[in-house]
Amino acid sequence: MLQADGPDQVRPIVCPGGSGVYVCQECGYQSPKWLGRCPDCGRWNAFLEEPVERRVPRRGHTDGVLGESPRPITEVAEGNRSHRTSTGFRELDRILGGGLVASSVVLIGGEPGIGKSTLLLQSAGRIASSGLRVLYATGEESSAQVRMRAERLKVLVPNLWVMGEQDLEAVCRAAEEIGARLLVVDSVHAVRVSELASAPGSVSQVRECTGRLQRFAKAQGITVVLVGHVSKAGAIAGPKVMEHLVDVVLFFEGDRQYRYRVLRADKNRFGSTEEIAVFEMTEAGLREVGDVSEALIAGRPAGLAGAAVAACLEGRRPVMVEVQALVAPSPLPSPRRVAMGFDTSRMAMVLAVLEKRVGVSLLHQDVYLKVSGGFRISDPAADLAVAAAVASSCYDCPIPAGMVFAGEVGLGGEVRPVRDVRSRLREAERLGFSEMVVGLHTEDLSRRAPVVLLRSVETVWGALEVAVGSAWRGAQAGPKTPAGDRHAGPGGSRNFGAPRVG
Ligand code: TYD
Ligand code: MG
Repeated sequence: MLQADGPDQVRPIVCPGGSGVYVCQECGYQSPKWLGRCPDCGRWNAFLEEPVERRVPRRGHTDGVLGESPRPITEVAEGNRSHRTSTGFRELDRILGGGLVASSVVLIGGEPGIGKSTLLLQSAGRIASSGLRVLYATGEESSAQVRMRAERLKVLVPNLWVMGEQDLEAVCRAAEEIGARLLVVDSVHAVRVSELASAPGSVSQVRECTGRLQRFAKAQGITVVLVGHVSKAGAIAGPKVMEHLVDVVLFFEGDRQYRYRVLRADKNRFGSTEEIAVFEMTEAGLREVGDVSEALIAGRPAGLAGAAVAACLEGRRPVMVEVQALVAPSPLPSPRRVAMGFDTSRMAMVLAVLEKRVGVSLLHQDVYLKVSGGFRISDPAADLAVAAAVASSCYDCPIPAGMVFAGEVGLGGEVRPVRDVRSRLREAERLGFSEMVVGLHTEDLSRRAPVVLLRSVETVWGALEVAVGSAWRGAQAGPKTPAGDRHAGPGGSRNFGAPRVG
């Protein structure tokens, strides 16, 4: 069988004798001949030949797991809402919406080495020590390896059963026989069902295994947690075929060079997808980080030009993150733009606004941007901190130590309001900040304690006057925005909060 793993390989145009079919390993699109680019998901070099599977028709016409007859919604028995099992990690429980729901299927995706197996083994161990039996099935490591890891993670408990097995049927049978309440499958790309001839990890196998585990979970009342590998593009391999089959999809992400790992919910049938949980990788496994802001901004050097703190909101939780920028003359005809932990296109947009609307000249400058702790910001409110950090580095003028930023930057150079200023203020106050630069907002903050001085600005121009005042004024003749933009009062800002005393 020829495989599509290199562009130079000679391939048959059509599978010989019609014995196979080419399947896109990203989305499951099928084609009778090899294609360089998938017409469905657009990925290059994703086609592998897989045998044509003769499926035994099941009762019903789909992968349906329930086989129920229709009835009025009022006659459906209420589910047991309180039946959730704690994972032993408060943060993981929060992401799941309050713990693992019985009979649900949870998929945890992430790059290799990020800590999926560690998280699940720790969690399985904690659940097992609470008295529930857990089966940890691994198709990637041997039982002895898992035992060694469990010893190090201090979860060597008799209720935690381990099985090195790639045959999914055997795993399911074992889970039933030993009376497991939780089944961990590490990973779904390493198990297979014997009826399909294709290799473990192929789209057909992944789809079939996930579907079977979903049916198994519902029929046996066992909760199933699956590990899924993430491809280079950042998606779970075969994502489209898998994500709709499971109840919850979590992503474990972060930079392996850093200690911090962020767990995000991408889909959750039982809770919000807005929450994040932060973990720290230590010698003894993963540890929950309760005070994320403190961890991310601790030990900042004082008085450094190019550093600004963004008051972000990740889910409902406020997180203070330090953004560092370095602006340096470029020897290159097209200067470098590098961002770590921040979306590159967003950075390009902020830089363009600085250039065109505010008059910060970056045309012949390399710009590097980095977010502290390997954290990835998704809140658009970080735009303003990015703009301030870049200007601060550009004019070599540090931003006052007690200042934080929360504002989305618009293409016109305006600062957009952000949601939930109150939570951000509370967090800034808790961490000892003294002023917060925000866009004009409509939130009523009149009854808050006026500890953090709130400086509302209408434009990026105004924000920079507050952040890098003197250096900025020296370097600027005037904004490139229409004259009407320079109305923003003293210091380019309007104060809505009483200044901090002393
Ligand atoms: P692992 O959980 O195997 O990652 P994944 O299953 O996502 O591929 O572990 C990832 C890394 O974590 C590994 O390189 C070693 C490191 N690690 C620790 O630093 N401390 C520990 O206690 C453990 C178990 C792993
Ligand atoms: Mg692993």
